[in-house]
Amino acid sequence: MPTEMESELKSDEVPIAITPSDERINRLSRLYEDEFGKKPSFYVRVPGRVNIIGEHIDYCGFPVLPMALEQDILVAASLIQEPAIYLRNANSKYKSFNTKITTYEEIEITPDGDGKPFWYNYVLCGIKGALEYLENKMENGLQLYIDGNIPPASGLSSSSALVSAACLSFLYAQNVSMSKTEIASLCAKSERYIGTQGGGMDQAIAFLAEKYCAQYITFQPLQATSVILPEEAVFVVAHSLAEANKAATNDYNRRVIECRLAAQILLTLSGIPTDKKIITLSETRNKIGKTLKEMIQLVLTYLPKDIYRKNEVCSILSVDEKELENLYLTANTKHMTEFKLKQRALHVYEEALRVEEFRNICSQSGNSKVNGTNGHTINGESQNETLSTLGKLMLQSHESLKNLYECSHTNLDLIVEISQKLGIHSRLTGAGWGGCAVALCPKNLLENYIETLKEEFYDKHCNIDKVDAHMYVFATTPNHGAIIYVN
Ligand code: GLA
Repeated sequence: MPTEMESELKSDEVPIAITPSDERINRLSRLYEDEFGKKPSFYVRVPGRVNIIGEHIDYCGFPVLPMALEQDILVAASLIQEPAIYLRNANSKYKSFNTKITTYEEIEITPDGDGKPFWYNYVLCGIKGALEYLENKMENGLQLYIDGNIPPASGLSSSSALVSAACLSFLYAQNVSMSKTEIASLCAKSERYIGTQGGGMDQAIAFLAEKYCAQYITFQPLQATSVILPEEAVFVVAHSLAEANKAATNDYNRRVIECRLAAQILLTLSGIPTDKKIITLSETRNKIGKTLKEMIQLVLTYLPKDIYRKNEVCSILSVDEKELENLYLTANTKHMTEFKLKQRALHVYEEALRVEEFRNICSQSGNSKVNGTNGHTINGESQNETLSTLGKLMLQSHESLKNLYECSHTNLDLIVEISQKLGIHSRLTGAGWGGCAVALCPKNLLENYIETLKEEFYDKHCNIDKVDAHMYVFATTPNHGAIIYVN
């Protein structure tokens, strides 16, 4: 007989547990009852995430190394007999929304006049994706009350947590159960209805995360392997106070399509037929059969220029401009006339190497999991060396994101700089252009580090009182993935 713990670990479906009685759940339950006149029949909780290393490479097919946060999207729900969704948010900034649901084709996801998504569009993405998967077979509508505490537009995956929570609630309401990997893939696909061509990292960690461990996530097939982080390391998240909403601009999609074009050209110039299908930089490497290091050389040989004009790309790929747009570009990148292919491809292959190195160092530095804590016990000297090597990889990642991928922000660079003065390495996390930085901080420096950031960044640079700054900078421990609570 498997022990309770073993059967829990073996289970491949989103776990279902008895609703805990904590203050947040009780408050949400009261709000729900005041609004809908009954208690919720179930809750869904989906965490945000911080990516430790492996940025902007998931959509290129390369592994990433995130962990789930304590902050989450909590949804209180109950079924109704009409085909409709009633949506409320505990934060009054987010207005209520109701809609009839007939077919997934009829769910329209349109942004506001400035091209910014409405908050409920993310919920609609989750429901649209679920309904498409169910081929429009819907038994129950839903009344949903949402309470999120992941700071929005901060690179901590609040949007993916919301899409995933909506999708999971909807599937559960229709009595459908799926494996964690299936639902993570479905949620990744669903979120693309917002207009960005995201990879699957955020949704994967949302469902596959485990407490006390980061996850090494591979795509095709989607799989997560626990990575035990050195015991002396604390990961600190610091908000740059520059908000970044990747669905409100085309910055993100531009990078995605530059990677697509680079992959296509590398394959073409290597003399391998491409069938004009979209191909990732990882698939290109597999087809060419080279190591990551060799691919870096190949990029320098085949993509030597800093800028490629649209007509040059067309001529290398033997397509006309219309064909190029239809085959590889997205609605919001069709107008692009110039592409930075060398820089983007170099970042991707080098970052993929850094992820492998990071993971190897973690697994070499010990692998004992003690009583549910991360339990590396290695001597002080080699512990310091390990942390410093891991930190340097994170710093290199930041430099590459700043210079080659051009997705940093001056505030993020300043956080990285202030950290470095204390010998602490950090990097931007998530899509970038603002949002948060993540730092690898040795435990014994934690207090001093957070104090220094409060003074040097939040107080001096952002005029935020040190007392209020605690909302923006915090230490994290890896949390578990999505869960359903029932009564
Ligand atoms: C966003 C996307 C992810 C990933 C990161 C960058 O969070 O949703 O798929 O591409 O940006 O690493």
